[in-house]
Amino acid sequence: MPGSMANVPKDLLQQIQHLEEIFTVSTEKMKEITDHFVRELTKGLTVEGGSIPMNPTWCMGFPTGYETGTFLALDMGGTNLRVCEITLPEEKGEFDIIQSKYRMPEELKTGTADELWGYIADCLQQFIEYHHEGEDLDELPLGFTFSYPATQDYINHGVLQRWTKGFDIDGVEGKDVVPPFEAALAERGVPIKLTALINDTTGTLIASAYTDTAMKVGCIFGTGCNAAYMETCGEVPKLAHMKLDPETPIAINCEWGAFDNEHVVLPRTQYDVIIDKESPRPGQQAFEKMIAGLYLGEVFRLVLVDLYEKSHIFEGQDIAKLKRAYSLDASFLSSIEEDPYENLSETQDLLANKLSIQATRPELELCRRLAELIGTRAARLSSCGVAAIAKKKGWESFHVGADGSVFNKYPHFKTRGAAALREIFDWPKGKRDPIDIRAAEDGSGVGAALIAALTLKRIQEGNVAGIQHPETMLKGTKAADKKSDQV
Ligand code: BGC
Repeated sequence: MPGSMANVPKDLLQQIQHLEEIFTVSTEKMKEITDHFVRELTKGLTVEGGSIPMNPTWCMGFPTGYETGTFLALDMGGTNLRVCEITLPEEKGEFDIIQSKYRMPEELKTGTADELWGYIADCLQQFIEYHHEGEDLDELPLGFTFSYPATQDYINHGVLQRWTKGFDIDGVEGKDVVPPFEAALAERGVPIKLTALINDTTGTLIASAYTDTAMKVGCIFGTGCNAAYMETCGEVPKLAHMKLDPETPIAINCEWGAFDNEHVVLPRTQYDVIIDKESPRPGQQAFEKMIAGLYLGEVFRLVLVDLYEKSHIFEGQDIAKLKRAYSLDASFLSSIEEDPYENLSETQDLLANKLSIQATRPELELCRRLAELIGTRAARLSSCGVAAIAKKKGWESFHVGADGSVFNKYPHFKTRGAAALREIFDWPKGKRDPIDIRAAEDGSGVGAALIAALTLKRIQEGNVAGIQHPETMLKGTKAADKKSDQV
């Protein structure tokens, strides 16, 4: 293993030890966090609520694998906007997909609501013009993956609770996002009907369950972090007034990024406090800010700046570049953790190229250890959330479908997360882990299409709980026509 502390001077060694103390989440601490998490998940389902929103999604059940139809799926991500057309054929668990990616201009994230919806509608229009040139189209049903906390009285409606992941667009929070989105489509005459507004975690859960019946939780560990799982209506006191069959399943978008906003249990460091204070939404997303990809590089940067200011590292160097907030992303830490060389020469090049800092060997050792600590903390805290859902539901053996850049690309994230689960549950070594967090199917594409299909199927069956204006949904859609042929 590259890196060695043998030649690190005493002062720096002390700094490293201090960082180890503040960034390490012990087994005991993980157990404590998990138990508190279970209580908070339950509280979020009550009428009074808690910090974790626990949003009912009106996705009411798993797919059978035999869903059919053609659907559009739109994913409004932080970097890209992805539009897909998905066909679910007769064959069980199969799908065909065509897709286009559009860049999500950085300015849009802090621009106006009109600009946002206009841009998205333009992309959808382009997609349709490109793939269906000259066709006389019926309205295509759309699953829109809107991965922000939204309360949903209906599946085709969603009131944005608050922006997360650095978005800050005025006039959207507290309002239903569907009408302005549909208005932008109507203005352009784009033949699309929004069937379902979904969260990326719900999409991930449903897409993964399409082919894997052991799937019970969908997670995203990416720019943001969150999970969804299938609850039963009887366990959701805040839905009691709707008098739904208590055994009916309903997917809950936990929005667990908001866990411990009141700072009871998470081992926050001074750096986490700064991240929160300087963010567009201080006091929100406490858990997410310690885990998600958007923040990992920033924690690292803040530690280095602090150590420099206390004269422990980079003496006499110009750290102007390091001083720029959010100048380092999670991939910077990934590269450091992946440096295969004993002398950490790749880390040295990274610091030189990206930050114009010439680091000494002991400073490189510190950087390497710090990246490990931050990456490991993120994985261990994430597992507390998974463990909490398992404990709450009493599920002992199941699969978790996970997606997102941190899960897919951050080195050792999966093995560290698995090790953490083993510690939380005291599983014996050498046996297969009963809870397996594995790479998910494409949630914002296939998942969104499946949820749209499940919604149309419910309408056809007359089960319209949580669907607004169901009578308008089946009109003329190809998927619906195909479906109604089968009824
Ligand atoms: C959002 C969630 C989303 C997660 C992962 C969080 O910031 O609030 O809705 O699921 O990021 O994308």
